[in-house]
Amino acid sequence: MTRKRVAILISGRGSNMAALIEAASDAAYPAEIVLVASNEPAAEGLARAAAAGIPTAVVDHRRFGKDREAFERALQAELIGHGVELVCLAGFMRLLTPWFVGQWQGRLLNIHPALLPAFKGLDTHARALAAGAKEHGATVHFVVPEMDSGPIVAQGAVPVRPDDTAATLAARVLEVEHRIYPQALRLVAQGRVQLDGDRCLIDGRPFVPTS
Ligand code: GRF
Repeated sequence: MTRKRVAILISGRGSNMAALIEAASDAAYPAEIVLVASNEPAAEGLARAAAAGIPTAVVDHRRFGKDREAFERALQAELIGHGVELVCLAGFMRLLTPWFVGQWQGRLLNIHPALLPAFKGLDTHARALAAGAKEHGATVHFVVPEMDSGPIVAQGAVPVRPDDTAATLAARVLEVEHRIYPQALRLVAQGRVQLDGDRCLIDGRPFVPTS
């Protein structure tokens, strides 16, 4: 089995990154993490990646002013330089241009802390509470130019409890994130996920196995 070469793009803490690195530390996992790149030089996740022996790169978006594509071309050079085949966004806080998304069509995943298509954007946990949502969760999806859209690979749901705060709900959702992102990447790396218009098929069927 040749393992897919994966880069993880982060901007901060990197707990999802750590979950992916942990999964890929098993030689039987179908993907290996060959690069962690951050637009934020101070991202905590960089030190965590380095401690795990993963090569890291910083492409500071501030160097490029308002020129998003120039930033992305520098990022792309890192990805190409490391022979990357799949990219996982994990708390990467830059909007990507159609150019970059087009370079990675069908090979670029994101995790979003809500049950898409509900609660796109930021502050998802506070917004779910404010809306009185009874269920909340996380989604792994392929990236398309429109933010927090794109074919869904995996989702996990949690109940919303009456005494929840945004912080307690976020913590419950984060556990789900750490479970479903490695599962979703496994399926994609194994070539078991096909794009079918706006949705994904897994092994030719419109559902995700739970393990
Ligand atoms: C996660 O909640 C992820 O879903 C969202 O940003 C957060 C990143 O957390 N996109 P971490 O950096 O993975 O700890």
